[in-house]
Amino acid sequence: MISKYLKDIPKLEMSLLPTPVHRLNNLSGRLAMDLYCKRDDLTAFAFGGNKTRKLDYLISDAINSGYDSIVTFGAIQSNWCRMTSTAGAVSGLDVHLILSGEKPPKATANLLLDTLAGADITYVNSTDRDDLVKEADKKINELKKQGRKPFYMPVGGSVARGSLGYVQAMDEILEFSESHSVRFSDIVLASGSSGTQAGLIAGQLISGWEGRITGMAVSRSRGEQSGKVFKVASDTLDLLGYKYSEDHLRSLVHVDDNYLGKGYRELTDSCSGAIKEFARYEGVFLDEVYTGKAAAGLIDYARRGAFGEGNSVLFIHTGGNIQLFE
Ligand SMILES: Cc1ncc(COP(=O)(O)O)c(C=O)c1O
Repeated sequence: MISKYLKDIPKLEMSLLPTPVHRLNNLSGRLAMDLYCKRDDLTAFAFGGNKTRKLDYLISDAINSGYDSIVTFGAIQSNWCRMTSTAGAVSGLDVHLILSGEKPPKATANLLLDTLAGADITYVNSTDRDDLVKEADKKINELKKQGRKPFYMPVGGSVARGSLGYVQAMDEILEFSESHSVRFSDIVLASGSSGTQAGLIAGQLISGWEGRITGMAVSRSRGEQSGKVFKVASDTLDLLGYKYSEDHLRSLVHVDDNYLGKGYRELTDSCSGAIKEFARYEGVFLDEVYTGKAAAGLIDYARRGAFGEGNSVLFIHTGGNIQLFE
């Protein structure tokens, strides 16, 4: 059903798909639930993570449109920038990163990988988005003056075309359910720039899957994040040419901001606790910015009995654990 809508849209195959899904036996026992994990940290490309699915579509589009370079921005430890640097490099596109913050004395974790991939990096000593956009515009103009054709890559890849990667992920989830006779009632994931959740919801709407997708907000309030997810999901359905009712789509957007703490990249105790639970009981490493907070929400839901009894729940590990080596 979903694949019919995706089959003619060009994409690269940097991600190794489908990613595995497996039962988390020890945590299922500890939390008295039936818990599975979809391992999107194992998309393989550039240490894996959710962004490779988006970049499969976005880089393909950039190449087909004749661009020869990429400009994007993010935090110094941005997973997005790590993956874009690598995806651009292997596709023959020069990547120019605008990173917020001062150049650290030593490049570690994601920043180290950006440099190994050969990205050109400009540091901007500000966390204000407008300052980063200004610097990105400056870089784009510079490149154009040199006769280059730079592609402005939207941050986090959270535009309709990038979200197609998660429409496809929803298809994989449904195929797993079918082939393993596991009916999930819930899908839980981290929701940041929103394209991952939006793509899954678009896939849910197309397929008619009846469960609930909950995005644990990692950077915004529930209201703001819901609006963002809705917008990208509707753009994604429009891109696919799929007709839908806005009310129906809105009813599928579930965001919880109770595990965000003081804000983006602000570590919470429940996040640290969740990272240890996953590491010590499953050998699965999460990160402190995204997946740890999503898992903190999942663990709390399980302890409060918020998932219906006997239901099977799927946690999506969206990657990001390179951050642990910061
Ligand atoms: C590891 C990880 N998980 C989840 C997310 C959130 O995905 P999205 O930005 O599509 O909401 C991100 C985004 O940067 C991420 O790096």
